Amino acid sequence: MLSAFFLDRVPTGIKGLDELLGGGFPDGRCILIVGSPGSGKTTFALQYLYHGAMLGETGLYVTLDEHPDHVKRNLQSYDWDIDGMEKKGKLLFIDASGLRRTGGESNRLSPYGGSATDVSDFTELLKTINKVVEGENVRRIALDPVTSLMLRYVEELKKRRATVAFFDALADSGCTSLITSELKTSLMDRRFQLEEFLSHGVVLLHTLFHEGNVVRAVQIEKMRGISHDTQIRPYQFGVTGIEVFPRDKVF
Ligand SMILES: Nc1ncnc2c1ncn2[C@@H]1O[C@H](COP(=O)(O)OP(=O)(O)OP(=O)(O)O)[C@@H](O)[C@H]1O
Ligand SMILES: [Mg+2]
Repeated sequence: MLSAFFLDRVPTGIKGLDELLGGGFPDGRCILIVGSPGSGKTTFALQYLYHGAMLGETGLYVTLDEHPDHVKRNLQSYDWDIDGMEKKGKLLFIDASGLRRTGGESNRLSPYGGSATDVSDFTELLKTINKVVEGENVRRIALDPVTSLMLRYVEELKKRRATVAFFDALADSGCTSLITSELKTSLMDRRFQLEEFLSHGVVLLHTLFHEGNVVRAVQIEKMRGISHDTQIRPYQFGVTGIEVFPRDKVF
């Protein structure tokens, strides 16, 4: 049957983006969201999970930089009932923010609800994620941001192996996962980051400067297995989160 060759799609919840993707993210894949500070990485990640929760799909947010309470507070300007979804068990949080503060020793990591597990690296984090995914029937994962985890590996080969294993394991969980990554240089003259080569798909959040104005724009750099738009398209923040304008061009 021909349809067996097409990947199922997961609606992103980002208004306008599904049109660029031909329906949504490919099911069961690991997608990287790359952007500069304040470009909307956390908004994107939570919007994706919140939309899934509205559809009845349980979402898991793994925070690697900030405490979950801070993340929620920063998203209060959107009309999302995150606490309500959390109470219903449709949004779960893992606090892995302790990881960024140390080099390699074990740290405390709190899965939802407050009970804690020790984690030291990708492997420990995966174990905790898998336990929650299996126990709570999670369908969507967002990990925000992966940058501090990557910095734990000095040696390139070890970093590459750990990243491949991590992305593969997330895909094996059966969930469709988003991983955010921080961009430290301008998008126009940047070097590609290792995680971009290793993930199944990459969405770039550009912050551009044009005639004295800041222009926000999204671009699907790659999405293995599907045909998609590759143009740079404008987006903006509103009370419902990020909205992409799929027919408009920036240049
Ligand atoms: N209700 C709103 N209306 C308009 N813009 C908003 C609204 N809420 C947030 N923003 C914009 O979203 C930006 C922050 O988004 P977000 O925290 O998702 O970015 P980020 O890429 O995760 O940032 P960081 O690099 O600090 O982690 C703010 O700088 C602000 O410009
Ligand atoms: Mg953020």
